[in-house]
Amino acid sequence: MKQKKMKLTILGATGSIGASTADVMLRHPDKFETYALVGHRNSQRMLELAEQLKPEIVVMTDGDAIAELQGKLPQGVLLHEGMDAAVAAASEASVDMVMAAMVGSAGLPAALAAVHAGKRVGLANKECLVTAGRIFMQAAKDCGADVVPVDSEHAAVHQALLGHDHGSIRRIILTASGGPFRDRDPASLVNVTPEEAIAHPNWSMGAKISVDSATMMNKALELIEARWLFDMPADKLSAIIHPQSIVHAMVEYRDGSVLAQLAEPDMRSPIAYALQTGERLEAGIPWLDLAKTGRLDFQAVDTERFPAMRLVQTVMQGNDTLAISMNAANEVANQAFRDRKLGFMDIVRTVEAVLAKVENIPVDSLDDVWSHDREARRLAQEMIVL
Ligand SMILES: NC(=O)c1ccc[n+]([C@@H]2O[C@H](COP(=O)([O-])OP(=O)(O)OC[C@H]3O[C@@H](n4cnc5c(N)ncnc54)[C@H](OP(=O)(O)O)[C@@H]3O)[C@@H](O)[C@H]2O)c1
Repeated sequence: MKQKKMKLTILGATGSIGASTADVMLRHPDKFETYALVGHRNSQRMLELAEQLKPEIVVMTDGDAIAELQGKLPQGVLLHEGMDAAVAAASEASVDMVMAAMVGSAGLPAALAAVHAGKRVGLANKECLVTAGRIFMQAAKDCGADVVPVDSEHAAVHQALLGHDHGSIRRIILTASGGPFRDRDPASLVNVTPEEAIAHPNWSMGAKISVDSATMMNKALELIEARWLFDMPADKLSAIIHPQSIVHAMVEYRDGSVLAQLAEPDMRSPIAYALQTGERLEAGIPWLDLAKTGRLDFQAVDTERFPAMRLVQTVMQGNDTLAISMNAANEVANQAFRDRKLGFMDIVRTVEAVLAKVENIPVDSLDDVWSHDREARRLAQEMIVL
């Protein structure tokens, strides 16, 4: 009997994760079809994708991009505008899975809509869990949504946990490449340019996450993401530098056994893992040749060099508003650095200064999430202009 294809909505289709998702789907045309492609501004990329994936609808959340696409999409493809249309595309009844790959907390409403609709959700957009982890995971439980990580580290943990008792976990260890400045003299980082920060040694990624990797804010966000995804207290979560990015994460059990997942650093691997519901999918990534790799190195994270990793310890010990504010202030500071309005070393400094000013309280409504998010953005903007 012919198997029913899995129907997808891709949020953030025009980005780096969107491209890798399209690549994996196009390798398996018998298994996947596209309901909606959702982008923000990149109309040219959306045109190419719409030709390749033949979706039923295209959504652009930015008005100018809509004007650029008018009359250009393949015949029969409908064009919708705005975040409300993205939310509708994420919760459409015929959709089986939503790939949540917008960047930043802007992606939260649509990803959460997918969760409320009980979808399988491939979660790349880690900022959703950092800002609203408690609400997001509770909604997934209540609505029967299956949240599958699309971060290489979390996909690795997910695999190392399969078939094991949660209570036997001693520690989850995420690996971190250390980014482009792992070995550079910290004094020389003051004059780093956005181009240098974005040039990641192992991964090809979008601009925001590449800068987050250079400051190691990305690993800080990932620790919070892991806290919610795997329901783990902060003291059981850690990170270690592993420059080769071959071992993606490890889970240490009570009996001293450590299970790791290894693969070449290519996001198509965790994406294929998230897309599969039965047998493993061919992902198109190079085969791992350990004899050629030669060595796998590990070293402790230097929190002097990477203060974001010191800051996250305070954030994880504190209440929800700290994580919301850390994320929001980082989004503002990261963008300001990319716009050449802020120095590289001032990104985490700005986040730390914002954290010193905000309340440390729990949050259980989305309205409260947004109000703390706004306040942290306001404070960060104010500090950057000063
Ligand atoms: N890239 C990776 O290897 C990787 C790995 C793990 C996790 N992630 C996570 O996956 C997410 C996406 O990362 P990425 O590297 O793919 O980023 P990216 O290449 O910058 O793509 C971001 C996507 O989000 C859209 N977008 C930007 N601002 C938006 C807004 N205000 N409203 C709605 N959509 C918006 C962009 O649309 P336009 O381009 O059309 O403007 C694009 O489709 C991030 O949360 C990142 O942390 C990425």
